[in-house]
Amino acid sequence: PAHGLTRRRFLQSSAAFAALSALPACSLVSASRDNGMWEYHLSAEPSTASLVPDHQTDVLAFNGKIPAPTIRCRQGEPVTIHFTNNLNEPTTIHWHGLRIPIEMDGVPFLSQAPIQPGETFTYRFTPPDAGTFWYHPHMNSVVQLGKGLVGTIVVEEASPVVFDEEHVLMLKHWHLNPQGQWKDLAIPRYSARMGTPGEWGTVNGVHQPKYELQENATTRLRLANVDNTLTYPIQVRGADAWIVAIDGNPIATPRRLEEHKIAPGMRLDIGLVAPKAGANVEIMYMKGRFPFLLASFTTTPSTLVEKPLPALPLNPVATPDLANAETRHFVFEWAGAITPADKQGKGKHEFWLMNKRAWEGMSKGNIPEPIATLERGKTYIFDLKNVTQYHHPIHLHGHTFTVLEMDGKPVTPFHTDTVLLGKNGHAKAAFVADNPGRWMYHCHVIEHMKTGLMGFVEVV
Ligand code: C2O
Ligand code: CU
Ligand code: CU
Repeated sequence: PAHGLTRRRFLQSSAAFAALSALPACSLVSASRDNGMWEYHLSAEPSTASLVPDHQTDVLAFNGKIPAPTIRCRQGEPVTIHFTNNLNEPTTIHWHGLRIPIEMDGVPFLSQAPIQPGETFTYRFTPPDAGTFWYHPHMNSVVQLGKGLVGTIVVEEASPVVFDEEHVLMLKHWHLNPQGQWKDLAIPRYSARMGTPGEWGTVNGVHQPKYELQENATTRLRLANVDNTLTYPIQVRGADAWIVAIDGNPIATPRRLEEHKIAPGMRLDIGLVAPKAGANVEIMYMKGRFPFLLASFTTTPSTLVEKPLPALPLNPVATPDLANAETRHFVFEWAGAITPADKQGKGKHEFWLMNKRAWEGMSKGNIPEPIATLERGKTYIFDLKNVTQYHHPIHLHGHTFTVLEMDGKPVTPFHTDTVLLGKNGHAKAAFVADNPGRWMYHCHVIEHMKTGLMGFVEVV
C-alpha cells in the first residue's frame, strides 16, 4: 500500500511537471520492484505552493511540488535518478546518510562539478543500508533548502519488513509571515547563535496535518527533520511509541519513546500499534516545557487483530576495531567575526570554528586542506567537543558513526550519520574509514555550516 501511494504521488507530480515543461512526454518516473530497477526523474525548479492556507508562496521545489516526492528504493538494489536543474543557479543533490561512492555524493567541486541551469546529471548508486534518509542540494543551502528543496528517500529492507501502515513525516518550519510572504532566512545575530528559526511549522508542507490509522495497525512513522535550524524534541501522545531506528539505522533493542531530540538532518523511526477506533495519536514537539502539535492521526475501525511490531534488521555497518583505533579530536567553538567586505560589498560572516578554523568555502581549482586525513580501512574515534552555548548536529558524509559515549557517559552503541552535541556537549563516535574520498563534515544547522562550521575529511 505504501508503494502504491508513492507511485500515485509521483504520477501526479510528473503530470504537473509535464504540463509545465517542454520535455518529451516520456514517463517521468518509473519504479518497479520486479526487475530490481529503480529509476526516477527529479528536477529542481521555481514553483508556487499554498503553505499558509489561502496564500501562495514562491518556493523552490522538487518536481514543482511541496512536499517533494519520496524516493523509494531497496537496500542492495541499484537506483538511477535523472536530475535536471531548472533553477536559475547551479546546484547539486546530496543523498544524506547514504554510504555511496564519492562521485555520487553531490558536493560541488569536491565530488562533482556544479550542475548548471538547464543541465541534467544522472545519479546512480546502490544503497547498502535500509532506512529513512533524505536528499537536498549542497549549494546555496540557506536559500535552496530554506525555500523548499528537501525530500525523503525510503530504502526498504532487502528482505521486506512489513508494517500495516507507514507514514513519512517531513518536519520543516518555513520563514513565512501569516500572508505566506518570505521573511529573512538568515539573520546574522541569530546565525551567530541558534540559527534563524522559521515561524510556520509544517509536516509534509501542511500545518498540523491530520491522517488516519486503522485500529490495531502496526505502524511505522518515519520522521525526518529537514529544517534549516530547529531541533524538535519529539513526543507521542495517545499510543505506546517505540524508537525503532535513529537517523536511518535500526537500533538493536527498540526502546520506549519518552522524548527524543532530532536536530536538522536527523531522522527518527517510530513504531506503534494504533489504538482502538476513534482514538487520537498526536505527534508533538516540545518548546521548552510547552508541547506543540506537529501532526495527528485518528484511528478508524478495522478487522486487524493486535499483533507485535515487526523487528528491523541492523544495517551492515562495519564494526569499529576499538582496540586499534586512533582518536582524533575536534573542538567546535564560537568566534564572532565579520571579515572585511568583499568586492560585492558584502561582509563574510565567520561565527564558528572547527579546530580553530572557519570553513573557507571552495571553488573550482581552489579546494582547501582537509580537516583530517584518514587511512582507508582503519578505525577512528572522533572525539567531539562543543565549547559553545548552542547545539550542533555534526554530520559526516559517506560513513556511519557508532556512538560510544555522550557527555562523558557510555551509551548503548548506536549508528548515526549525525551526532547531536548539546550545549557544551561532548561525544565519542567511532567508524571504520572504509569509503575512499573527500567527505564533507559539518554542522547541519545550515547557518552554522555557512558561517564556519564545515570542513571535510579525506579517506585515502
Ligand atoms: Cu545533509 Cu552535507 O548534508
Ligand atoms: Cu550528508
Ligand atoms: Cu552548529
